Amino acid sequence: MLRLSRLIVLASAVVALIGTDRVDAQRSQANTLTGKPPIVIGHRGASGYRPEHTLAAYELAIAMGADYIEPDLVSTKDGVLIARHENDITGTTDVSDRPEFARRKKTKTIDGVEYTGWFTEDFTLAEIKTLRAKERIPELRPGSAQFDGLYQVPTLQEVIDLAKRKSIETGRVIGIYPETKHPTYFDSIDLSLEEPLAKVLRQNNLDDADDPVFIQSFETENLKQLNKLVDVPLVQLFDEADAQPYDFVASGDSRTYGDLTSPEELAKIAEYADGIGPFKRLIIPSQAVNENGDGKPDDVNGDGELSEADRRLATEPTSLVDDAHAAGLLVHPYTFRNESFYLAVDYANNPEAEYEQFFRLGVDGLFSDNPDTAFVVRNRIACGTQNPKYSQQGRNRRVWTPGGTGNPCR
Ligand code: G3P
Ligand code: CA
Repeated sequence: MLRLSRLIVLASAVVALIGTDRVDAQRSQANTLTGKPPIVIGHRGASGYRPEHTLAAYELAIAMGADYIEPDLVSTKDGVLIARHENDITGTTDVSDRPEFARRKKTKTIDGVEYTGWFTEDFTLAEIKTLRAKERIPELRPGSAQFDGLYQVPTLQEVIDLAKRKSIETGRVIGIYPETKHPTYFDSIDLSLEEPLAKVLRQNNLDDADDPVFIQSFETENLKQLNKLVDVPLVQLFDEADAQPYDFVASGDSRTYGDLTSPEELAKIAEYADGIGPFKRLIIPSQAVNENGDGKPDDVNGDGELSEADRRLATEPTSLVDDAHAAGLLVHPYTFRNESFYLAVDYANNPEAEYEQFFRLGVDGLFSDNPDTAFVVRNRIACGTQNPKYSQQGRNRRVWTPGGTGNPCR
């Protein structure tokens, strides 16, 4: 039997898909774990508009209202943490066009998958700094690709410096949300990520429980290790239900991310983490459409490709948000993107409808490539305003100090 709260959420979600006028009529505060408004996390910066993981992308995310900026972290040969989604930098830098690095091209197995390209662990920071970032998906984001070749790959320290500087300039507290990428792999090549991450946070006085920092990982053991190194909140990421944390694979543990969504497993996660970062389809599942009965997924929008835009949402959310909250865990799902390519059929090309649905389900924040859209909807749903306030820079000016993330609605 559906619980009353679930029915209310479902009714809200349906209204969200009908139109914003009717949604406005039932404006309400978000039903988060803490009662605070949900946070907007600039996923790889404002990566819908600038090449990901560049200072320009992070700076734009902050200008668009992001409360946190998200650097994924990998290591250089000399042990410096830099912001890249993978250690394979073939697709996000100009390294393949640089003859001086041609001989660095290698084939490696990372987390059980073979890649051929150029890898951060084979470059010193000084060498990495000679490269320039480029847009990962220029075919979907030609506007961002116009900025190819302009920006360096930033270090974690440079991302922190930006967050501090922008906190002072804007009067908001801009948090950082670093993710350790491939921690088992980096352990295996003696470039462990956890100690340098903890060291950088300590050097910046950002290692306490109330500092504006979340650390995230798809693996579990390294989060348990980080739990002993720093006091900042930790977030256990969940990939698709049938995938496994790579440290489970390495140790022969057969549990999947789907298994980890059970109330019993969530209670265990709450012993070392403060939140979960689930793939959004673990909250609102979707399924392929097969209306022509051929047993194959239909290309609903006729663009010649199968994508989220060809899938329909389940009529009912899972209990993951409620179950995580019951375990005392925050819920920060990923990844929200504006392009129709990434939007399920049900949203009718309206990305705001998706944000609204999730905010009404009570998520405590979300990762967005388009933080301007996330910000506007968050404010409408959870802050009681439709008018972005982030342009009022300089008001209530505050310096970067440990002591909480502030109220994102201010
Ligand atoms: O960290 C949340 C989300 O970023 C995880 O996915 O692959 O974009 O790092 P990914
Ligand atoms: Ca990430």
